[in-house]
This record gives sequence, C-alpha cells and structure tokens, in this order.
Amino acid sequence: MEYSFPRYLLAKQSVDDRALNQIVLNALRAQLSPEPLRIIEVGAGIGSMLRRLVRWDILHHADYTLVDDQPENIAFAQTWLPQWAAASGLTCERVGPHSAHLHDDAHDIRVHFVQADVFAFVNTNLIPADLLIAHAFLDLLRMPASLSPLLSLTKSLAWLTINFDGVTTLEPTIDPTLDARIEQLYHETMDTRPSGGDSRAGRHLFEHLRGAHAEIIAAGASDWVVHAINGRYPADEKYFLGFILHFFEESLADHAALDSAAFTKWLAERRAQIERGELVYIAHQMDFLVRKGAAGSVL
Ligand SMILES: C[S@@+](CC[C@H](N)C(=O)[O-])C[C@H]1O[C@@H](n2cnc3c(N)ncnc32)[C@H](O)[C@@H]1O
Repeated sequence: MEYSFPRYLLAKQSVDDRALNQIVLNALRAQLSPEPLRIIEVGAGIGSMLRRLVRWDILHHADYTLVDDQPENIAFAQTWLPQWAAASGLTCERVGPHSAHLHDDAHDIRVHFVQADVFAFVNTNLIPADLLIAHAFLDLLRMPASLSPLLSLTKSLAWLTINFDGVTTLEPTIDPTLDARIEQLYHETMDTRPSGGDSRAGRHLFEHLRGAHAEIIAAGASDWVVHAINGRYPADEKYFLGFILHFFEESLADHAALDSAAFTKWLAERRAQIERGELVYIAHQMDFLVRKGAAGSVL
C-alpha cells in the first residue's frame, strides 16, 4: 500500500461527513452572521471543509483562507479545488499564485491558500474572521497555550471539530490484553509528541475553553465509525483504515514496551481483517461551537 497523506485526507471525508455532530452543525447554521463571511481555517489540509460547506449549502458568499504548514497539502488543495469546483458546476478562476475565485449564480467565494505554521500566521494576520474553523487539528497542539492565539483569529465564532477524546476501538478482538496495551501505548504517543497533542483533547477542551474566555454554544460527540456494508467499505474507507494502521505502525514500531514480533503479527491480522471486510474502527471525538468572549470577561 502506498501512503499518501493527501489521499488519506480525501479518504477521510466520507468518515468525517458521517461523524460531524449535527446539533453543533445546526447551531453553527443558526449563529453564523449573514453572508458574506470571512472564514479562516487552520490545519486545513487539502481544503475538505471548504468543499463540504459548499456541498452542504452552508457557504455561498465568503472570503475563505486555508492555512496549513505542509507544502504538499497546500499544493494538493490548489490542484484539487478546480477539479471539485468543475464537478459541482462552479467556475474556478485562479487569481494570482495563492488565490482562486469560485463562482456561479449562487456562489461568490474568494479562496486564499497559505502555507505557514499556524502561529506564524497568527502573528501576521491583520483582520480577524467571522468564523475560525479547526477540524481534526486541536488535538495535535500544545494546550491550553495554543487556544488564545488561535482565538485571536476570530471576531466571534469558532467551530472546533473532530477533537480526539481517548477511545480507539478496533473489533473484532485479537487478544484482549495486547489490544488494550496497543491502544494505551498509541494514546501515550499522542500525549508525548514534542510539538504537543492530547489523547483526551475533547473532554479537556471544556476547561481550556473556559480558561480562554470562550462561551460554549454547543458541544457533542463526533465519533468516527467505520465498518463494511455487505463486505465492502464505502467510498475510499478501506484506504482510510489502512492509513490508520499505518499511524499505529509509525507510532509504535520499536516501542520498548511492546514485543515487536507480537506487534508485527497483530498488524498483519488487522490488515487481513480489512481485506475480509471484518474490521470495525471507532474513534471517540468531540465537536464544539464557541463564541469568543471579550478579553478578561467572565462568562
Ligand atoms: C489531521 S490533519 C487534518 C487536516 C484537515 N483539517 C482535514 O481534516 O482534512 C492536520 C493538519 O494540520 C496541519 N498542521 C499540523 N501542525 C500545523 C501547524 N503548526 N501549522 C499549520 N498546520 C499544521 C497538518 O499539515 C495537517 O494537514
């Protein structure tokens, strides 16, 4: 299997579509100010959320800035945008090297691609947005220190989605003790990355958001649930599952606390479960819609 991060992000789209919490999403629809909107998305990857907001008829008139630090993701986003726009009947014009204009009778969206570390971007951004989006991103950062700089990117709303929250389930069981050990060690690697990260980011955000003077308007679970239907995984979710096992392999290969032969055998059996359409994967995550409070206010 060839591992491409942009393809993983493409394959993740249908999983995220099902997972996003609908109560939080409805709160977003209700709270958004009238368009045109200025939106900043951080850790935006290949631009999946922009496409989703257009597809879900939420976004029509906007200035949308995507920020990601990986050149590969930004390059893919720039190539992919005209493709999905054309497939949706939208006209896409390139405007200079880092922007595009997406339009039809119902849409007028200016898109800006920024390849930068998010905190460098925070230091240079002059105009806060109406909405900040961070999707499958906050659980990778140092918390709570990252929250206030990120919230400086919005005038009011932030939609903070797919924050991992401490449960990874792979079924069927191979060996209860080994399965549990691998889950525990995998979560530990999220907690000990030098760049930050928290395997219980979802639940901890309640406290961190309060500390950052952000009012929680809505919160709820956004679990990934991936399983085969009639022996086949939907869309490109077989690839998605293969990539999840790749994350396990990358994180835990040569781990001192894990018998490497047993782990290799475990990975092979999990891959065989995917081939047979047997593997069920569940990851517990949380979504939030928050409104930024006035600096120093108690909410
Ligand atoms: C799990 S991916 C999610 C991408 C996208 N939000 C999605 O769900 O399709 C996290 C993204 O954050 C980006 N990222 C990680 N650290 C970053 C940083 N410090 N500044 C900007 N982007 C960062 C990665 O390159 C990656 O694309």
